[in-house]
Amino acid sequence: MNRKIVTIVGARPQFIKAACVSRAIAKSDQIEEVLVHTGQHYDYNMSQVFFNQLGLAEPKYNLEVGSGAHGKQTGLMMERIEATLLQEKPDMVMVYGDTNSTLAGALAAKKLNISLIHVEAGVRSFNRRMPEEINRVVVDNISDILFCPSDLAVFNLSKEGVKSGVHDVGDVMYDSIRYNIKKAKQQSDVLDRMGLQSYSYYMATIHRPENTDDRVKLQNIFDALGKLDKTVIIPMHPRTLDVVEEYGIETNMDNTIFDEPLDYYDTLVLLLNAKMVFTDSGGMQKEAYYLKTNCVTLRDETEWRGTVALGRNILVGADSEKIISACEKFKSEITSDYSATPYGTGNASEKIIDILVN
Ligand code: UD1
Repeated sequence: MNRKIVTIVGARPQFIKAACVSRAIAKSDQIEEVLVHTGQHYDYNMSQVFFNQLGLAEPKYNLEVGSGAHGKQTGLMMERIEATLLQEKPDMVMVYGDTNSTLAGALAAKKLNISLIHVEAGVRSFNRRMPEEINRVVVDNISDILFCPSDLAVFNLSKEGVKSGVHDVGDVMYDSIRYNIKKAKQQSDVLDRMGLQSYSYYMATIHRPENTDDRVKLQNIFDALGKLDKTVIIPMHPRTLDVVEEYGIETNMDNTIFDEPLDYYDTLVLLLNAKMVFTDSGGMQKEAYYLKTNCVTLRDETEWRGTVALGRNILVGADSEKIISACEKFKSEITSDYSATPYGTGNASEKIIDILVN
């Protein structure tokens, strides 16, 4: 008999992760999937573009929650997800990552006694000032089946007493890169469009509240990027753009080029060909590793410590001098070793479906 899964997504990285797992679900004749979009991300280039490019089915429900303060946004999502779950009566609910959509989906499901599956479980930055860390801890502690990207994530869960239903399957984002990189290279014209040569530029993304909500930190980051020795391409998250305008942050450096948020293929091609990436994104630290691009992380800690331990990621916070010296350190390297596989082998989606079916 078919089992019904409701998958809840809402933010950019979740569309990418769900596309891989949905493809694996579609190959199995034992699981029926209903896709619910909370509407947390709603701009075309933060949402629909990923559905179009990754072949993710249109959601059966779009709850159109939109932006708002954390409590309001999460509460509204819970109310609408609960109504949807009562209507769909699924056997399981699947949530991804650490956003407010993840938290709302998890709480709504468990309050209705529906089995909860968390993909990207056990990931910890150990910084509870991050909204995402709170979401991770809560969701993991109420999940029934937890799919971890690494043995470190399994260990983190065991320290919190979460031991049953835990599986180390690797990272679904690695599946996504393996599946999409060839198509991205064929279809993206981002280098020509921007007039860029491979390795002649750096890429930067900034959107974490710890950087964007602090005027001094944000200015430090832009000041450092402005002093780098190559062009820096910066696709701007809408919230960062708002804050830059609101705070009057000086971003008019000679070497920086700002752009809209990019689609997935452009992002992969830009990252693959960048000399280095400067980012506070969680996903990009891993994507940089998979594409063998050195990463300077604009945070004091990371949940992806494997990349740091392997020497391919340097944590610098929002300190201008550290940003510049990390760049110099990578530039002085003769070779970089990317042979280790800290987050599995790129078949996490199949493993997830095998476990769910069996
Ligand atoms: C969220 C996630 C974060 C994830 C990121 C990926 C939480 C707590 N954070 O952060 O973990 O890494 O998504 O992008 O869930 N906005 C738009 N258009 C959109 C979406 C957002 O303009 O399509 C702007 C709005 O000004 C909004 C702000 O971004 O107020 C914040 O959006 P929100 O979805 O709450 O969080 P993110 O910062 O995107």
